[in-house]
Amino acid sequence: MLVGNGARPGPERADAGAALRRAFPDRKFVVVSNREPYEHTWDDADIVVQRPAGGLVAALDPLMQAVGGVWIAWGSGDADREVVDERQRVRVPPESPSYTLRRLWLDHQDIQHYYHGYANQFLWPLCHLRPKLTRIRNRYWDRYAAVNRRFAEAVLEEVEGEPAAVWFQAYHLALAPAVGRERRPDIALAHFWHIPFPPLELFRIASNGAELLRGLLANDLLGFHLPLFCDNFLRCVESVLNVPVDWERRAVVQEGHTCFVRALPISIDVEAYEKAASGPDVEARVERLRRRYVAEGGLLGIGVDRIDYSKGLEEKFAALDSMWDTYPEMRERFTYLQVGTPSRTGIKAYDWLRERLEEITHWINDRYGTATWRPIHLLEESLPMHRLAPLYRAADVCIVSSLQDGMNLVAKEFVACQLDNRGVLVLSRFAGAAEELDGALEVNPYDCESFGATIREALLMSEDERIERLNRLRRSLRTIFDWMVEVFDEWGAAAHQHDAPLTAADRWQRTR
Ligand code: F6P
Repeated sequence: MLVGNGARPGPERADAGAALRRAFPDRKFVVVSNREPYEHTWDDADIVVQRPAGGLVAALDPLMQAVGGVWIAWGSGDADREVVDERQRVRVPPESPSYTLRRLWLDHQDIQHYYHGYANQFLWPLCHLRPKLTRIRNRYWDRYAAVNRRFAEAVLEEVEGEPAAVWFQAYHLALAPAVGRERRPDIALAHFWHIPFPPLELFRIASNGAELLRGLLANDLLGFHLPLFCDNFLRCVESVLNVPVDWERRAVVQEGHTCFVRALPISIDVEAYEKAASGPDVEARVERLRRRYVAEGGLLGIGVDRIDYSKGLEEKFAALDSMWDTYPEMRERFTYLQVGTPSRTGIKAYDWLRERLEEITHWINDRYGTATWRPIHLLEESLPMHRLAPLYRAADVCIVSSLQDGMNLVAKEFVACQLDNRGVLVLSRFAGAAEELDGALEVNPYDCESFGATIREALLMSEDERIERLNRLRRSLRTIFDWMVEVFDEWGAAAHQHDAPLTAADRWQRTR
């Protein structure tokens, strides 16, 4: 049960476990992703554990803690090898072990070509509608395929001799499901894509598009955040593979196997954020944060993003500039704190963006700052939940400016932490969260003047309207456990559909 004021009741952790057992009573559960949920790193002579930034691990760790099983991922920490057993496994979370993390090792070439290359310099910009940023190189594709095979091999090892349900995550692993399906047709397979899926006109840029689509169709269930991404995917299947789509069932039959495609919007562990934002210690911290960043009676804005061109950070700073320029009375009154987590360093587009943000910050601070007031604070680090929650609670406004975003969980985290009814959410219409959350002030991040005016409107909003909007936001906020129950219910139905009678589309496909 959610504890927040006005929040809707929702499923809990135990319901997610029950839904999984209902779908797959006797199967071993395996999650596979590129990014690992816990990284062991050296800190001088000590080994410390870190939680990598990003929505995927934040969303799936509570799931694994609830249901147990094995999570297979790249061991990216420099001390990761020190803590695994001879089968490359370690129990996590360290403070209360409840599932197994199986690490897969990537060498320098793997990282360069599979992770920095095909995944993040081809698929990521393609799916975020930035074709000019894509780089097509044979060596990227070759490594992507090879690393996908290795992930599939690790899965096969983990489930050897056992019935299993295997859940792949995100765009790093589009080919692995087909390898798994070929070798173990009995395994239940699902995949959640986590980012947008591009329209056909852009997908045609993918030289290996047919292989990507076939890889994904090997799943019983393929999930995206929004119906639009499902439609984009299915249109690509029709056109690139020339395979008919059963639009009514949103399914594709390929070589006798059916893949169901579903919109399943992800969320956060709302209760965990509410807890992290509660208590006397947090209240004291909230007060300290406000004293540190704003003068008496001042206003505080916050943004929390990976430093990624899809997040619209330059556009956000342009809107802030426009606001302080057009409404001088907001100077010295409103301070903005941007938590920018460095991400994918080594890729030019990311390194360049980071430099550019630092430059813009200096420029804005020089232009409007005074001896006692700094307009923008740019904090280049990754903050854990217990430090983020008080910041969300301290803020008068949270600004999400994505140019393209599958979901954006920061918007949801901010809503969950509004225990004082203080905050207003300013949300880009291009974030998936905007489809679901009711009560935010929506902005077009490309229109910096109206974006700036909306930030001001948020800051000057009456208390009544603020509370009314927050109540709507809370009512529309679903938890991560809603998502899991939906995924497992859909996946169970999809995996067991083999017993169902054939549709006309199935029969047609089988006669080809
Ligand atoms: O799959 C997308 C995603 O995993 C997000 O959930 C997350 O925010 C981001 O990518 C993390 O990126 P990386 O693993 O490259 O650090």
